[in-house]
Amino acid sequence: MMIINEIKELAKEAGQILLAAKNPKIMEKSGHANFCTETDEKIQAFLIEGLTGLLPEASFLGEEDGLDVFSEKMGEGYCFVLDPIDGTSNFIYSYRPSVISIALLKDGQPYAAVVYNPYDDMLFSAIKGEGAYLNGERIMSSDAPLSDGLAVFGTAPYYAELQEQTFEIAKRVLPLCVDLRRSGTAAWDMCCVAMGSCNLYFELRIQLWDYAAAALIASEAGCVLTDMEQRPLSYKGPTSVVCRARGVTEMPECFGGGA
Ligand code: IPD
Ligand code: CA
Ligand code: CA
Repeated sequence: MMIINEIKELAKEAGQILLAAKNPKIMEKSGHANFCTETDEKIQAFLIEGLTGLLPEASFLGEEDGLDVFSEKMGEGYCFVLDPIDGTSNFIYSYRPSVISIALLKDGQPYAAVVYNPYDDMLFSAIKGEGAYLNGERIMSSDAPLSDGLAVFGTAPYYAELQEQTFEIAKRVLPLCVDLRRSGTAAWDMCCVAMGSCNLYFELRIQLWDYAAAALIASEAGCVLTDMEQRPLSYKGPTSVVCRARGVTEMPECFGGGA
């Protein structure tokens, strides 16, 4: 696709905005400990300007500034789905990483994706049907069984009602794998499964901007992505997400229910 290199460049420039931010102003949003900083807003505005220049006909769904409502028209033609900082709490507390996540949907399905971790200069990209790449090198998910790898999960931190079930599942997954991880960024978690560092990711509720880009990257790296009920992802809004590396051929039995 002609514009993937330009999207990568914009993600890298956005990463520089993130790295340069010093004591950004913090605003509270609805939900438990759900924050936005002026850097989230600045990066989203920067991406919208740059991406509009690349593809003027595209619509936008983004986490900040009231762009967070999925409308039917986003399921037609091109739509950029942006998470300017995935891992805002990490960013606020200087816990790494945080990533910039950009997905391009075409007729409601992911078509191109870029996820950038500026701290380690790691840029993941994918185009539908053309494989997943890390800094230009092809990546594939692990073919090892779950018992021979790490599992990573998200705590669905903004949804208190899901926490008991989240930790119940985590408790049951722990003996099935080498150990559990919790990074603080869902897009990074799925990229870790895509590059073979983890074998399984799950979270009971995340938003389209959290998963749209990383799900395409993981799927192009051979992962299987579903919701907790093993349905394909809808790419229309919030959902539970399970991302299994190639070696995790079946859904672990303890994954019953979900949001
Ligand atoms: C959050 C992160 C976190 C995940 C949450 C997301 P944000 O995104 O991805 O890892 O557990 O579900 O909402 O708020 O930092 O952009
Ligand atoms: Ca996010
Ligand atoms: Ca965010």
